[in-house]
Parts: sequence; C-alpha cells; structure tokens
Amino acid sequence: MSERLWWQDGVVYQIYPRSFMDSNSDGVGDLEGIRQRLDHLAWLGIDAVWLSPISPSPMADFGYDVADYCDVEPLFGDLAGFDRLQDEARQRGIRLILDWVPNHTSDQHAWFQESRSGRSSPKRDWYVWRNPKPDGSPPNNWQSVFGGGAWEWDEASGQSYLHSFLKEQPDLDWRNPEVVEAMHDVLRFWLDRGVGGFRIDVIHKIAKDPELRDNPLHESGHPGYLGQRHVHDENHPDTQEYLRGIRRVLNEYDARMTVGEVFIVDPKVAASYYVNGEGLHLAFNFAFLRAPWSADTFREETEAFEAALPGGCWPDLVLSNHDVPRHASRYDDPVLGEARARVAATMLLTLRGTPFLYYGEEIGMRNVAIPDDQILDPVGIHIHPAVGRDGERTPMQWSGGNGAGFSDETPWLPIGPDSDERNVEAQRDDPASLLCLYRDLLALRRTTPALHRGDYRSLDAPEDVFAFERRADASRVLVALNFSGGERRVKLGASTVRGGLRTVHGTPLPERTDEIHLAPSEAAVLVVDALD
Ligand code: GLC
Repeated sequence: MSERLWWQDGVVYQIYPRSFMDSNSDGVGDLEGIRQRLDHLAWLGIDAVWLSPISPSPMADFGYDVADYCDVEPLFGDLAGFDRLQDEARQRGIRLILDWVPNHTSDQHAWFQESRSGRSSPKRDWYVWRNPKPDGSPPNNWQSVFGGGAWEWDEASGQSYLHSFLKEQPDLDWRNPEVVEAMHDVLRFWLDRGVGGFRIDVIHKIAKDPELRDNPLHESGHPGYLGQRHVHDENHPDTQEYLRGIRRVLNEYDARMTVGEVFIVDPKVAASYYVNGEGLHLAFNFAFLRAPWSADTFREETEAFEAALPGGCWPDLVLSNHDVPRHASRYDDPVLGEARARVAATMLLTLRGTPFLYYGEEIGMRNVAIPDDQILDPVGIHIHPAVGRDGERTPMQWSGGNGAGFSDETPWLPIGPDSDERNVEAQRDDPASLLCLYRDLLALRRTTPALHRGDYRSLDAPEDVFAFERRADASRVLVALNFSGGERRVKLGASTVRGGLRTVHGTPLPERTDEIHLAPSEAAVLVVDALD
C-alpha cells in the first residue's frame, strides 16, 4: 500500500464559523469561540476542521463573498487569533482546512472595485465584462444559480459583468493568467501559515466557454438556471488544466490537501476532478445528499463512485453540509428517526473514504424551521423560503437554557426548539447517546486499519440491509446496516467476532457472524479474524 496521509486516514469536521461558538456576545460565532471548544473536538476524536469562509466579507452570502482573501473577517477575529486557534488545534492533533472561493469575489473586493472603475482599468479583465447584445439584452442566456440572469448591467462603465451567484459575487476570469497567479498566491499565503489544505468552493464553475455561448435549454422547460444544460458555464474541459495548476501549488508543500465542491452528481464527472491524481486530492461525492433512505441506493451510490474513481485515488463521504437540510431531518421518522441517525453515522464512519462531518450532526441536530420574516439566506430570499439554507446553519447546541451555551446574546439565527434536551452537555456522559456513538465509532475507526484504510467489498444481505467488508492486511471488519423498520437476520460467513459495536446500546455483540440479529434500523460493526 502506498504511503498513507492524514487526510486519507482521518475524519474532517466542518464548522460554520457563524454558528459554532460566540465568545464575545455579539450573537455570531467567532474563532476565539472555536478555540474555546477545541476540547470537544479532541474528545470526539476528529483529525481536521474545515472552516467555512473566515475572510473579510460583507456577508451577502455569509462569507462566500470574499472581500480580502488574506485576512480574517473582524466579526470572527484577526490573523493573530487565527494563528492561536491553529496552534492550539495542532497541539491536539487537529489540522485546519480553509474554504477557498476561487470562482468569484465580493463586489467589495479591491480587485472588483478597481475593475469596475472603467474600461481601461488594469484589472478590467480580471472579471468577465461584456457589451450587451445590439438589442440591449444581456450578452448570453446564462442564469444565476441563485435566481435571475447571470449578468449585471453597470451603468457607469456601460458594460455588464458575469455573476454565477449573487450580483454581489462577480465571477473572476480564470482565463486571465494574472487572476490564476493571484489566486495561487492566496493558497500560498495560507499554506505558509500552516493550514492543512482547502475546501474549494464551486470548482466546477471556474472555467467557462471562451466564446460565452448560450447554454442549450433543457427538455424540462423549467425556467431559469434549472431549465438549461450547463455545457458552457460549468465543467468546461479547461478546468482540468486549472486543477493541475492548483495541485502544483499544493505540491510545493508537504502533505497538504484539497477537496473540491463539484456540485454535479454524476460520479464520473466528480471523479474527473482528481485528474488521475494530478488534480484535486478529493472531490466531494454528493450522491448521499440526495439519496433516499434505502440500502440499495446507498450501496449503488457507493459502488458507482468507487467504480468511477481513477486508480490510486481515494473517495470521501458526506451526509450533511451547510447547503442542504441536515440528514437527521432528511431521514427523520417519528418512531425510527433516532435509530436511523445511528445507522447513518455508522455507515459514514465505516465505508471506504474520508468522512466529512457537519457540526451538530454528532448530537443529531435537526433542521430548524425559520419563520419567513427571519430568513437571512439569499437563497431563501431570492428563490424560495422553503429551499433557504438557514435551517441547517443554526447555532450549535452545547447545553440547555437560553442561548444553548452558544451565546449569551440573541443569536443571529434561532436556536433549535429541542436544545434543552438535545445538546452536548446532556449527551456527553450518557454512553447510550448519539454523541457517544460517534465518539466510539471514531475511536474504533482510528484503531482499526481495515476501517480507516481498508478495501471495500459488498456482501450479500437480505432486503433493506447494506452489508460490506473492509479489509487491510490482517485487519478485517464486517458491517451490516439495517435500513428497514423490521428485524433482520443476516449471515455474514462463519467468523468469530473479536470486537466492534452495535447501535442498539447495551445489546451484546454476537459471538459469530453466521446469524446476526439486527433490530429495526440497527447497525453492527464486527471486527473479525482475517483468515476466517
Ligand atoms: C457553494 C457554497 C455555498 C455558496 C455558493 C456560492 O455552493 O457551498 O454556500 O452559497 O458556493 O459561493
């Protein structure tokens, strides 16, 4: 087996900085708050933290509109505070991964301010400016992901600029080598400061058709962004060259990583972003974000991504993030919801690949219903309240009482109505809690080579059960996940069980693997001998 790296063997935990811990009573989380909560992360047993954007931002898209890539947003702290957080995280064996937003800046970024100052600006061609068509209509038919056309008319300079998201998020022009160089320097700025790597925002958007041709329309006839086939504004073949360039920068440093957001569900497309080991270290596999609660679907999606991956490349696993409803809500059920959250955790932490946890999932946080007049997310405002993302971004629930241990002021988003019962403090000393299950799974994963680096092989199983084997040399583990609301008997060979865990707390492990009884929505992880 080739040399193993921390980001392959390890587990990443995503923090949405506005919502993790408020240390200065302004209702918004900050870096000092994260520092104060590092012991939780060390106790849990994760290896790296991915911070959603922390750079100065007018917050039109809550940090994904960056006004200065090489500094820290004052709401969150400053560079010295960042260094302190990073040092203290490293002392606990935790690396920091930053969010790098290469497709667009804020319209308040000095580059864009300069660019929009006039047609002869030296930074004019850092962004995508075009004349309207002779009839005065926009330069092409591209649409913003966040609703409406993708072009904004600038009266002062008499041209329009491209914005794939909000008009406050103008797209950089990656065809300009100066832009590429400047963005590579941003990577170096943070790599020099010691970060472990980057989560890369909407990487499938950075290369566009050089002629900016119209996208063909979709057969669906759907209006707006969803009604187009994105052949000219997404996933352009030239992306591969930009990915190689990014990789060369990372290769200037030891053992750093990138994970790219490729918001395209086709596994072959996502896998192409690894560029056979010369591009991204990981491309997010988002198939699980859309998967219904079904053993067959999870098995099929796992195997489709495995099959699409170039040789030697490593998969990843995601159930929740800041853009989609939390999986404990997606898979909730009045009777089986809690049990399902335990099965989901077991699947995420035992399949082959680097798992990405989303803050709060370890205590089973649910999406929070946001009253219409409190919606802040631009997607909720511009597209539809029902698809707004505030509900998955609410404050971390640390303890009961007002502010849930997150803040002693009114928090920027409402706190979950279940925070008095569902919080870290209440679960930490309860061995039957979801939090303790996450901790147990993380510990088992860390100490069992089959789980953090082994091969994957699917096993025959009864209906609604997803069973698989993980194996690395002498280390071997069998996993059975019961997705059904009924009991299941599973036969997984005739091995003697040496250890492991099951998600119904307090039930003993079976002695052998030839007759495993799984309760409704129960999972079992069984460590067995390699040679059985
Ligand atoms: C990515 C981010 C999302 C953001 C968008 C625009 O999809 O995950 O939160 O709104 O990019 O930057």
